[in-house]
Amino acid sequence: MWGGRFAGGPSAIMREINASIPFDRRLWQQDLEASRAHVAMLAACDIVSDDDADTILGGLDTIEREYERDGVPEDWDLEDIHMTVEARLAELVGPVAGRLHTARSRNDQVATDFRLWVRDTIDTLSEALHDLQCALVSRAGDHADTIMPGFTHLQTAQPVTLGHHLMAYYEMIGRDVDRFRTARERLNDCPLGSAALAGTGFAIDREMTAQALGFDAPTANSLDAVSDRDFALDFLSAASQCALHLSRLAEEFVIWASQPFSFVRMPDALSTGSSIMPQKKNPDAAELVRGHAGRIVGCLVALMMTMKGLPLAYSKDMQDDKPPVFEAADLLALSVAAMTGMVADADFKVKRMREAAELGFATATDLADWLVREAGIPFREAHHITGAAVKLAETKGVALSELALEDFQGVDARIDSSVYEALTVEESVAARASYGGTAPDEVRDRVNEARNRLGMT
Ligand code: ARG
Repeated sequence: MWGGRFAGGPSAIMREINASIPFDRRLWQQDLEASRAHVAMLAACDIVSDDDADTILGGLDTIEREYERDGVPEDWDLEDIHMTVEARLAELVGPVAGRLHTARSRNDQVATDFRLWVRDTIDTLSEALHDLQCALVSRAGDHADTIMPGFTHLQTAQPVTLGHHLMAYYEMIGRDVDRFRTARERLNDCPLGSAALAGTGFAIDREMTAQALGFDAPTANSLDAVSDRDFALDFLSAASQCALHLSRLAEEFVIWASQPFSFVRMPDALSTGSSIMPQKKNPDAAELVRGHAGRIVGCLVALMMTMKGLPLAYSKDMQDDKPPVFEAADLLALSVAAMTGMVADADFKVKRMREAAELGFATATDLADWLVREAGIPFREAHHITGAAVKLAETKGVALSELALEDFQGVDARIDSSVYEALTVEESVAARASYGGTAPDEVRDRVNEARNRLGMT
């Protein structure tokens, strides 16, 4: 009755739903590396002969040259990168190729390949984050004295230095580097030799393969080894937090580049124009970094949803682990590069920032602090007196520093003319010299420490 409708259908659908080669071909180098280590170990343990191992190693070298030259072929019938490599090996060296898969399953193979890929990616990303940190520190050093408004609630709060603001991002990225480093440490055990789920009856040497692949040790439980994707989640979680930081920095650039702010002129190389409004210069790169952060967090959530509730050991759901990790890694690499360029080449409008710092009664806290320090008034009362002075200045339409001494004394008789020194934005930032504060000398100290830590000359 329904045979016509389904004839051939399920197998075509099966082929398509099953094929991971369209995306897992990206693991080809790691797959060859792990196979080389595996076959060398099989020979050392007399599980395959030295001759057969050499034949297999020679075939793997040929495959490497082919893939480098022509890319990895995509044949859905071969399902994934592991079968694709093995099928090509059989074409090249004949039935001896079949010995490679002794004491191994695709389950421990994919777990090993993927760990190697994530490890390589962490190394590349860490270098890129190092470059971003260098750019932040270098610009922070240039702008240790540049005064800008500091905000809370995006309302003018207190004057800060641009160097201090940029060094805040240096700290954030430093924590990201650290999260990637600990993720790398945790992932560095080798699943190879766990086989399908229970280990193997062959007398293999798991220490040998672990060492050959740069792992610290073999994994200690075969069931865990083939069904664990914590290393991928650790990576995505570190990537997500890093993306949040980049997205916050990107958002600041978007705000600072808007005309009413005009704190920065974005590098031409990282901006675009409008097809209708000739005057426009849009911060598209920053906006995309902001947008990409959402997608990266989405990748983390996607893999968490894949893993939740999976019984031990391997289930095919786990094949869905790779697309989110690849996507997040690509998006993050682009985002880091874009933000590094933005930080390095942004044209900060120093004069405009300085003017903006004068607005919004940014030194009101300094007046309150002066009342505490010079007149011995308790802070809460000083806060109240300062509030009255701000209200008066607002009514008169002037800055705090523009109020006449009589006006100040009308608010509180204990105020004298030395108050004016405390009300400049220069004094305000210089006064905040507590460790980690915004004072230019403090910022220079932190910049110098960071330069040493980063190995900048
Ligand atoms: N392509 C698979 C994956 O990425 C490899 C493991 C397949 N194992 C299996 N028993 N079907 O997860």
